[in-house]
Amino acid sequence: MNSSANRLTIRRPDDWHVHLRDGAILAGVVPHTARQFARAIVMPNLAAPITSVASAQAYRQRILAALPEGSPFTPLMTCYLTDHSDPDELQRGFEEGVWLAAKLYPAHATTGSAHGVTDVANIHSALERMERIGMPLLVHGEVTQADVDVFDREAVFIERVLAPLLRAMPGLRMVFEHITTAEAADFVMAAGENVAATITPQHLHINRNAMLVGGIRPHAYCLPVAKREKHRLALRKAATSGNPKFFLGTDTAPHARHLKEAACGCAGIFNAPFALESYLQVFEEEDALDRFEAFSSENGPAFYGLPLNAETVTLERSAIEVPGEIDANGTVIVPFHAGETLRWRFVG
Ligand code: DOR
Ligand code: ZN
Repeated sequence: MNSSANRLTIRRPDDWHVHLRDGAILAGVVPHTARQFARAIVMPNLAAPITSVASAQAYRQRILAALPEGSPFTPLMTCYLTDHSDPDELQRGFEEGVWLAAKLYPAHATTGSAHGVTDVANIHSALERMERIGMPLLVHGEVTQADVDVFDREAVFIERVLAPLLRAMPGLRMVFEHITTAEAADFVMAAGENVAATITPQHLHINRNAMLVGGIRPHAYCLPVAKREKHRLALRKAATSGNPKFFLGTDTAPHARHLKEAACGCAGIFNAPFALESYLQVFEEEDALDRFEAFSSENGPAFYGLPLNAETVTLERSAIEVPGEIDANGTVIVPFHAGETLRWRFVG
């Protein structure tokens, strides 16, 4: 890291959790991620989820084709687990370098999870194979039972699913994605080196009041949903602690404005356009600018066993206004921090 009071230069970061979508909107959103990040782990929850090696290869090609001319951005693909996932197919894609990890969506937990896993018992042999070959499991950690309050679903998932799973498969490499609670941060800290977590910018900035005070604010709604203030504070502490188990994963999740401003609005926050500015503001507020590079550019590659990026990016301390909406190749999307002024500007 190279810093003066007003400029910060770090190794180029990676985003370990993004939704790039498909079709026309793909070309509208991928430039925002490619502008700031060298690599990104791409979620497989398309309308037809990425469950085969062939579909991951084809999706990767569509992403590359949607990139701005000459962009060196590297998409890292993932496989969507279903009740019928084949351990041999998982292993083949991993060994051929087509995908880096597999994603567990509990069925009906979130956007694009209808084909997800109805009970982890159904993917036991897939998980055993992943443990054996060292293939990371990326987890959307929420139970879906109707009797569990939506604000408790992550904490209950730890008790009912995650802790028993790790007891049964202690060597399984796992990323607890987009954690939102103190319980999740504590769980990750207490687990072995094979367990890590990503943290989004929104869960560092907002608590559940942002969604509900003064009216329902659909652009602050994502899943897992933002929790109470004490959880936000625990996440800020974890992210800025320097602990290598925590790293950057924006969970940028674009939805058209009209699909969020609706009677049943979609879950997801589009934070890619100002992702680094958003994270950096948190690190500055926590007096942890010296730990920003580890969180953004070092801890993720170390967990995944990938090389660090050689090139650098610079941010400078100067105000930047976030637009009220962004046109993503014909789809109007309201970005995270819309209408706010952020204190750092991404220079490139
Ligand atoms: O808010 C979310 N949006 N959470 C997820 O887990 C999925 C994502 C999406 O794909 O829109
Ligand atoms: Zn996600």
